[in-house]
This record gives sequence, C-alpha cells and structure tokens, in this order.
Amino acid sequence: MDGLNEMPQKKQITTVDFIDLSVITPKIMEIAKKAGTYIRQELDQLLESHIETKEENSLVSYVDQNAEKLIVEGLSSLIEDAGFITEEATIDQSQTKYWTWVIDPLDGTTNYIHKIPVFAVSIGLLKDGIPVAGVIYHIMADECFYAWQGGGAWLNGQRIYVSKTSEIKDAVIATGFPYKRENIEELVLTLKKMILIARGIRRLGSAAIDLAYTACGRFDAYYEGSINAWDVSAGIIIVREAGGIVTGLYGEEEPCFTGHILAANPSIHSALRLIIKK
Ligand code: IPD
Ligand code: CA
Ligand code: CA
Repeated sequence: MDGLNEMPQKKQITTVDFIDLSVITPKIMEIAKKAGTYIRQELDQLLESHIETKEENSLVSYVDQNAEKLIVEGLSSLIEDAGFITEEATIDQSQTKYWTWVIDPLDGTTNYIHKIPVFAVSIGLLKDGIPVAGVIYHIMADECFYAWQGGGAWLNGQRIYVSKTSEIKDAVIATGFPYKRENIEELVLTLKKMILIARGIRRLGSAAIDLAYTACGRFDAYYEGSINAWDVSAGIIIVREAGGIVTGLYGEEEPCFTGHILAANPSIHSALRLIIKK
C-alpha cells in the first residue's frame, strides 16, 4: 500500500497492545473502499421512496444500512472481541470494550440524497476510548485519507499536514449545522464572529470530509456544535497525525464523545477557542 511501507514512524509504534495499527489500517482502507464502491453504484438507483426520516431533518436509506453491514462484516474478523458504535445500529452497540470500531457508513447523507458529490465512509478505531486509527474515504473524489497513531496522516499514499496559516484573517474555516433546530442563537452568534474575522466559511455537509480537509490543509480549521462520535472518530486521529490540534469546543481534550469539536492547525487553535468561548 502506497505510503504505508515507507513510514519512518513505523519503527516507533508498530504494535499497540498486540494490535499492529500499521497493518490494520490498510485493511480498514480496503473495507472503506469496498463500501464506497457500493454507495457509488447505488447513487443512480436511489428513489424518493427509499428515503426515510430518522428524526427531524435526518434522512437515511437502505444504502446507509447496507453499507454499514458490509463494513461491520469486514471489520469483525480484524480484532477479536472489539465493540461497535455505528450510526445505523445494524449491530449490537458497545461502548465498554478496550477496542471499539466507530462507523459512519455514509457521512453526508443529505448530499448523497441530493446527488451532491460530497459524502464519505468514515471508520475510526478507538483504544480505550481514544481514536488510534482512522480512514475517511471521499467516495466521488476517490480520495482516501488515513492515519494511525505514530504513523502520520496520509492521502492516497502522500503524507499530509495541516496548514501553516497563522492568522484567522487568512483562514478558511469549515463548520456544520445541526439537524435539530436547537440553540440556533448561540450557533448564529459564533458563526457571525467567524464570518467577521475569517477569510471564508465553508459548510460542506460532511463532518468527516471537513476533518480530512483540515488534516491536509485545504481548510485551516473546522468546528461544529452538534456531532456524534461516528462523525469525528476517524477525523480526530487523522488531524492529530497531520500535526493539528483537536479538542471539544471548550477545550475538552478528547472530543470523540463530547458532542462538539474544534480542529485546527496549532497556530490558530487557541485563538479560535477564545472566539468560541461560552
Ligand atoms: C452529518 C454531516 C454534517 C454534519 C452533521 C452530521 P450524516 O452526518 O456530517 O456535515 O453537520 O452534524 O450529522 O447525517 O450525513 O451522516
Ligand atoms: Ca455523519
Ligand atoms: Ca451517516
């Protein structure tokens, strides 16, 4: 696999409690790409009648569910006794295992349904609750972003790094909006501050791709006030391995389960934190 064999870091951390992350990551990539191929094939078959509303504004179809089953089946044999946290809950959910797979089979479902080509497969691996490996496959761009702890962050075989932008006035910042129309005043207030200070604001509609783009420097930062572990677990390790800082919106060190996130290059992370501050 490109990039994975050339890792200087591979020597430093090749095994973590008997799981060799440098070996497991290409296997996760293979599974993510297989699911991505299925998702892409179904794009033209999807009809209005296939779409269900899970909860307020949150849509789902058989494609999300079948893709998740494919991924779960593939991952099940990789680590014995690992737990699963998955958006579509096609398997028993478990948050108490030492190793846990966190899966969003199709991140960007609204884009997918509207045939906007910005959606991804996101698979994260947690060790004791902390992301240690992650794969984000941006299906229509055929871009596979991946990282494992100590191994660096990669895009299709090339090392990636966060941007070097040192001032928010020069930064392009991504964000997302919640399906539930709650706490909108607070969201708008923060957004207003960002619009006034940053070079540009983007809302792609896929938290996973927002994080992947932050990792490779296309975005300088990404923040969102209402996210789930499956949206961000893979992206957290990819941004960190690319040299970025990822916290909760209020500085929480491990944002996988906080429900909100701020990822940025190290030069602007703390300044953004101050802007967002409660
Ligand atoms: C959503 C997307 C969106 C983000 C939402 C997520 P879904 O995931 O990542 O960009 O703003 O918070 O729920 O529903 O498309 O998998
Ligand atoms: Ca999602
Ligand atoms: Ca999803």
